[in-house]
Amino acid sequence: MKDFPRLLLALGAAYPGLTLAAPRDRLSHATILDARAAAADAQEYDYIIVGGGTAGLVVADRLTEDGKTTVLVLEHGALSNSTSISQVRGGLGGLMDRTLQFDITSVPQTNLRNRTTSVQIGKVVGGSSAVNAMMTIRGTREDYDRWGALFPSSAAGWSWDGLLPYFKKAMTFVPPPADVAKEAGIRWDAKWWGSAGEVVVGWPSYQFPVTGVLMEAWKGMAGVLFAEDSGAGETGVYWYPTFMDPKAVVRSYARTGHVDGKAGVRGNYVLMPGAKVTRVVMEGGRAVGVTWVPAPARGAGSAGVVTTVRARKEVILAAGAVHTPQILQLSGVGPKGVLESAGVEVVVELPGVGQNFQDHTSISAAFNFRNVPDPRTNASFNTWTSTAWAANRTGPNSIATGNAAAWLSYPVISSRSAALAAALLTQNHSAHLPVDTHPTIQAGYAAQMRSLAAALQSNGTAFYNLVQTGSGSTGMLVDLHPLSRGSVNIDARDPANREPLVDYRALSNPLDAVIMGDIVRYTRRYALDNPMTKALGPSESAPGAKVQTDEDFGEWLKGSVSPTYFHPVGTCSMMPRELGGVVDQELRVYGVKGLRVVDASVIPVIPGANTCQTVYAIAEKAADIIKSGV
Ligand SMILES: Cc1cc2nc3c(=O)[nH]c(=O)nc-3n(C[C@H](O)[C@H](O)[C@H](O)COP(=O)(O)OP(=O)(O)OC[C@H]3O[C@@H](n4cnc5c(N)ncnc54)[C@H](O)[C@@H]3O)c2cc1C
Ligand SMILES: *[C@@H]1O[C@H](CO)[C@@H](O)[C@H](O)[C@H]1NC(C)=O
Ligand SMILES: *[C@@H]1O[C@H](CO)[C@@H](O)[C@H](O)[C@H]1NC(C)=O
Ligand SMILES: *[C@@H]1O[C@H](CO)[C@@H](O)[C@H](O)[C@H]1NC(C)=O
Ligand SMILES: *[C@@H]1O[C@H](CO)[C@@H](O)[C@H](O)[C@H]1NC(C)=O
Ligand SMILES: *[C@@H]1O[C@H](CO)[C@@H](O)[C@H](O)[C@H]1NC(C)=O
Ligand SMILES: *[C@@H]1O[C@H](CO)[C@@H](O)[C@H](O)[C@H]1NC(C)=O
Repeated sequence: MKDFPRLLLALGAAYPGLTLAAPRDRLSHATILDARAAAADAQEYDYIIVGGGTAGLVVADRLTEDGKTTVLVLEHGALSNSTSISQVRGGLGGLMDRTLQFDITSVPQTNLRNRTTSVQIGKVVGGSSAVNAMMTIRGTREDYDRWGALFPSSAAGWSWDGLLPYFKKAMTFVPPPADVAKEAGIRWDAKWWGSAGEVVVGWPSYQFPVTGVLMEAWKGMAGVLFAEDSGAGETGVYWYPTFMDPKAVVRSYARTGHVDGKAGVRGNYVLMPGAKVTRVVMEGGRAVGVTWVPAPARGAGSAGVVTTVRARKEVILAAGAVHTPQILQLSGVGPKGVLESAGVEVVVELPGVGQNFQDHTSISAAFNFRNVPDPRTNASFNTWTSTAWAANRTGPNSIATGNAAAWLSYPVISSRSAALAAALLTQNHSAHLPVDTHPTIQAGYAAQMRSLAAALQSNGTAFYNLVQTGSGSTGMLVDLHPLSRGSVNIDARDPANREPLVDYRALSNPLDAVIMGDIVRYTRRYALDNPMTKALGPSESAPGAKVQTDEDFGEWLKGSVSPTYFHPVGTCSMMPRELGGVVDQELRVYGVKGLRVVDASVIPVIPGANTCQTVYAIAEKAADIIKSGV
């Protein structure tokens, strides 16, 4: 223990010897750390984890449980107690606070009239779990079975059955208050959940009556199923909890679960905020450590003293789907052409690094219900809201973004699922990838498209998502299984100092626009032609009656679609190497010893759900795999 730099944070119930004041002081503290640690170049840990975000903190916590295994977590962001993180009300405090995020803009999207988009990801201890919208969702059974099936033999259990124990391990489920559940009609079944996980998922102490009305209205739509619980792995209409401790009514996330709140300081678990990892150090085909610099106060630069820390056992990359591929490419592991044009020496040619990039697509259709006014426009309601919150943290302010949504399969939303599946199967898949795409990536893409063609005809995979936010309008409308694939590559103009080039390549597969057209058409039926909503006085505010044909939708989407729903995945996919994969089923990077990836980048095909629960489950499973010694 004595060889740990004293000023590194030893984590536990307290932070001994360390006064945490304003965020600025904490950042400058990290700079001091740098100076000390630079002098202590000989530092060695069993494991070095790059990124103290959602996955990284889970793995660090689990690996250090024995009190002996030494782990250093290097995190670019600060340890922040900002109320933007803790606050539950409205659910968007973290999302709106750009000081807790990287500052990245996508490359112009050629299919979206060259529009760019903000790439929002957390840069703070806790990572994106600190800034996300707290929607607690998992994918369906088929989503995870599709993943495992990309391997000829899925012995490692990347499937629904293989992940379910880890969903349960990761989270403690607190049921909704009985009166609220009864009044709003919330259904849930605790058998899909655990009760010992450090991350807590709970429910608000109030639901807007409008939410129940609009949920009930799904009963007017043929074939729509009502799932028994959000964790059951089924499609349908259901209620879901919030990443929130319902007692304190604050966000529950990777930091509250895996950094704070444990009894006793674990000297073998060391976290260094404010440290930006610049590359993995390799010797003879083995990852033996990393280099890091003090995080720049702003921007993406890496001026400052470069320090090397060594890993006796392994380096674990958990920097998220945007930065994990960047670090790998900067370390010489990646597509040959990308590395060469950036002047990076190729250590291992691994074409998949940074490719297969996916996110959910948000569609800006909107419908209003005249007869279900937003309660938040009522002054006496708002007064009551403030009083209830001030009295005991109850009432509408305990709601994040809401707890109700529809997650529907293609056969339920459209009569042309078979035709679309056939079109997808017979398409020349490679024609929708960038020119000169490596043959293994073409093969992986084709395998994914075959699997999604089956999904288009199944009621076990959700393509359609409409969220209810408690107002008299339809909420976010999302395409849960985009077919287009993008990339995240280092920027050849200055690879070490610039953020990577994030290219969603939205709408590059033309069938995506067709699918999104069907998603809007179905929402029209739900909102306008449904016996249950007709009485609510519905009207369409976007896209409007002029948009009808596939061509109309294609044009409208170019100008309106958002290529992100803040769920970047896939850039270091777990797939066979012959299919463009980057890690194997034990999360080991192909071609390098002692190097794993554990974060959203290993997800090969995005699940039809917000991604945080899946990342927690991946991290819990990864920790068991690493402990098992494979
Ligand atoms: C605005 C927003 C809203 C979202 N809403 C929801 C939601 O409501 N529900 C849901 O389920 N999911 C949501 N998500 C997605 C979900 O939070 C993420 O999928 C998940 O948290 C990703 O976990 P991760 O471990 O892969 O990466 P992260 O949690 O992002 O962790 C990566 C960490 O690595 C650090 N890092 C990066 N580069 C370096 C480097 N060079 N050196 C050191 N450290 C580095 C980062 O600072 C970060 O802390 C949302 C995400 C965002 C950003
Ligand atoms: C920040 O939060 C931690 C953990 O809850 C607490 O120990 C610490 O005192 C807080 N720091 C400040 C400045 O509030
Ligand atoms: C998008 O940018 C490219 C490259 O600058 C240009 O050739 C193209 O005309 C632009 N497209 C639109 C629709 O503006
Ligand atoms: C899927 O659901 C739709 C709507 O209920 C139904 O018509 C169809 O037969 C179902 N398909 C399968 C494969 O079960
Ligand atoms: C406004 O809110 C109050 C208090 O919740 C409620 O009693 C009243 O009926 C509401 N008025 C309208 C017009 O909805
Ligand atoms: C919380 O405070 C409100 C307003 O004073 C009150 O109506 C309510 O009963 C309280 N609820 C609980 C659970 O104490
Ligand atoms: C499919 O598309 C690729 C890439 O555009 C092209 O090289 C190939 O010739 C096409 N194959 C067929 C059969 O058209």
